[in-house]
Order: sequence, then C-alpha cells, then structure tokens
Amino acid sequence: MRRLLITHAKALVGTHAPGVSLVAGADMARLPCVEDGWMLVEDGLIRALGPMATLPALAPGDDLHTVDATGLYVLPGWCDPHTHTVFAAPREEEFVDKIKGLSYQEIAAKGGGILNSARKLRDMDEDLLFAQAKERLHEMMQRGTTAVEIKSGYGLSLESELKMLRVVKRLKEALPLPIKATLLAAHALPPEYREDRAAYIRLIADTLIPQVSGEGLADFVDVFCETNYFTVAELEQVLEAGARHGLPGKVHVNQFTSIGGIQAAIKHGALSVDHLEVMEEADVDALVGAFGGAPSRSTPLRLRSAWVDVTGAHREDDARGPIPTLLPSCSFFLRIPYGPARQLIDRGLPVALATDHNPGSTPSGNMNLVFSLACIQLRMLPEEAINAMTLNAAAAMGLAHTVGSLTVGKRANLIITKPVPSLAYLPYAFGQDHIDTVLIDGIPVRTGSALA
Ligand code: NIG
Ligand code: FE
Repeated sequence: MRRLLITHAKALVGTHAPGVSLVAGADMARLPCVEDGWMLVEDGLIRALGPMATLPALAPGDDLHTVDATGLYVLPGWCDPHTHTVFAAPREEEFVDKIKGLSYQEIAAKGGGILNSARKLRDMDEDLLFAQAKERLHEMMQRGTTAVEIKSGYGLSLESELKMLRVVKRLKEALPLPIKATLLAAHALPPEYREDRAAYIRLIADTLIPQVSGEGLADFVDVFCETNYFTVAELEQVLEAGARHGLPGKVHVNQFTSIGGIQAAIKHGALSVDHLEVMEEADVDALVGAFGGAPSRSTPLRLRSAWVDVTGAHREDDARGPIPTLLPSCSFFLRIPYGPARQLIDRGLPVALATDHNPGSTPSGNMNLVFSLACIQLRMLPEEAINAMTLNAAAAMGLAHTVGSLTVGKRANLIITKPVPSLAYLPYAFGQDHIDTVLIDGIPVRTGSALA
C-alpha cells in the first residue's frame, strides 16, 4: 500500500459530500472547505480527510509519506471538459490576419480555419501527432489539469478522423490523467462534399459512428452547429446516430449565432452545450426548462445538487438538461462576446468552464487563465469558478463520480498551491503561477517545494 498524508492545509477546498456531482444556481457559490485540514491518500484514492483536530494516529511505516501543507491550499485538480488538443500545427499566421482586422469567418472563407488544420493533419504521421499532443498534455498537467476531454475534428475524412481518435486512445494509455474522447467529424464540411452535404452526414452517421463506437474509440459525439458550418437538422442526425451507438452529445452551439442548436441538444439528451457566446432569451429559457424549471425570469430554478450516483449512473427521477459549458479564453482570443454566466447561474442553472484549447480560436490549455477570465469577464465569484472548473467540469465529461472534488473514494487528483493569502488571490493575481504541486492518483506530475 502507498500512503500520502497531507497535514495542516490552509484549507481543503471543494470537499463536496459523496453523491453530489453537479452544483447549480445559488449552490455554485457554496464551495465546501475544511480549514486547517488533513487528507489521507491510499493507493491513489482519497481515503479520509478532516480538520487537524480529528487527525487519527496512523500506523507509521516506510510506505507513509507526509506533506506539511501549512499555508497552502489543496484543491481538486482542474478538469477541462472541452479541448481540441490533438492538432498538427499552430496557426499563428491567422492570428496576425486577425490583428489586421479579418474575422474568424473571413479567415475560414479564404482557406484558413478548421480546413487549414485538416489539410495539415491529413499529411501528418500518427506517431508525431501523438508525441506533440502528449507534450501539450504534459504542459497542461503542469498547470493543474488532471482530467481532460479531447475532440477529433481536424480529420474530416474516415481515415483522418480515425487517426485522431487512435492518437487520443494512445494518450489515454500513455498518460496518468483520465481522458475522454469525442468524435467531432462534423466540425467543418470537407471541400470534396461541397456539392453533397448529405453524403458527409451519412458517412458520419452510418460509418464513422458505428465503427468508432464498436472499436471503443470515442465516448461522445460533437457537432459544430453554426451558420456556415452544420445545421440544426444535421446536428440532430448526428446526435441520433450517436444515441443509437451509446455516444451522448457534447456540442458546439451558439458561438456566433443562435439557430436552435440548444433546443435540439436538449431534445436529444446531450451531456453538455458548449460555447454559448450568443444567447437569446429563448435559449436560456429552454435550458431552464430542460432542468425542470418554469421559464419565469423572476423565479430562479431550484435544482437538487445530486444528479448522478457514485457509480456514475444518472438518476432517473431528476430532470437533467445539458450542462452549459463556457469557454472564456476563446472569447478573449477571438474578441467575441463572453457567455452569460451570471444570467445562467442567476436563473438557477449549473455552469462548467473549459479551455477549448485548439490552434484556431484558443491556443492555450491553461485553466488558470480561464479562472481569471471567468471572474473578471464572466463575473463569476471565485467559489463559483472553482466549482465550474472542478465538479461541474467533471460532470460535463461524465467523470463526476471519480474526480472533481475532495471526496472520500475519489481519485487523488490534486493541486497544492504555493503560499497565497486567499482563494480569491488565485484568479486576482492573473498570469502568475500559483501552483506548487500537482498529483494524479496521489503521484506527483509536478513536484514543488511542498513535497521536498
Ligand atoms: O471550439 N468553433 C469550432 N471549433 C473550435 C475552433 C476550431 C478552429 O478554429 O480550429 C472552437 O472554437
Ligand atoms: Fe471547441
């Protein structure tokens, strides 16, 4: 047995009760903490925790390693439920075009954007793609990310989409953090299907989804449902095919225009709706309705906080809509509106946060930047943002039963901070590195002075 005892933590943060796997509305500002805390990790799992006054006498032994965390916070590692971290090459030339005044859509129209990434990826050797993505994930783990979702979507052909998902599968095997894979073949229409869109959707629904599901290459399906990309009807076809093969949806909707993607995602039981930079009143009402609330703006929805049991199974008796997942570093980079976090939370909904790490709209996989932007631009309280980047983010990729909070029985995927005066200091002193140590399954992936 391997044991790690953390003592005297300034606070253990996010000590949600077992079974609480999503927090919503006013509950998002409630971040349970244990001050002056201890935590025992055994064989990679959180075994017990409490305030120092309750620390039991532990049998000493060579297997017991003690960390004195005086002045340091212990948090659940960040969970990043929306990334495109497997890609062939950065696109900083488009960044310069953007500085000169071109929009995301104008860059796409002149052959840049997603199709640019797809051209580069088609020619790229699978081993190199894997090695580069692994390097990026190492960097993300250094920054505190301890669970991640990764999408395909730069393949846009049977072979290349499968190549991307095989890379994600190898990453799952090679890296210690939990990784979820999402098939995003409907990311942009490949030029060879310009005259026959339906044929591409058939390729996804009738060939790719069955094959990917059969080979266990994906956990979810995604569609970029947007003007000039994929329609609501096409989103529905892909989500229906996903549902037939056990792959729930996690979808890109309302990034630039509101065209009904949210309502379709709700209808097909999607796990999350991501982006939401452009939201009409009706879109928010639909989400409130999906979580069992009445569409009255003056009575916020009151959700029960437990949505899945400890085994990860959804509870039948709860109305549960797709988790709104906001990507503020994408808004920052593209200079587009920020998602309406305040409105969603004030209406009683849950919010999750993610990076959207990708070469076109968010060349950063740093959740600490997302934390600052969530507080500064989305006006989320630090406690709300932490819940959104841990428990709710884990829920947005179906992992809330194993990670996302400091709860007995969960994996010991942890951040130990440097000495900081308060939790609010973390997003406040933006751009600085406040992380000392990162552990996954109780094993350091970043070793700071706390472990020395
Ligand atoms: O989530 N919006 C669609 N997909 C990505 C961007 C992809 C790209 O530009 O390469 C996003 O922002
Ligand atoms: Fe994305």
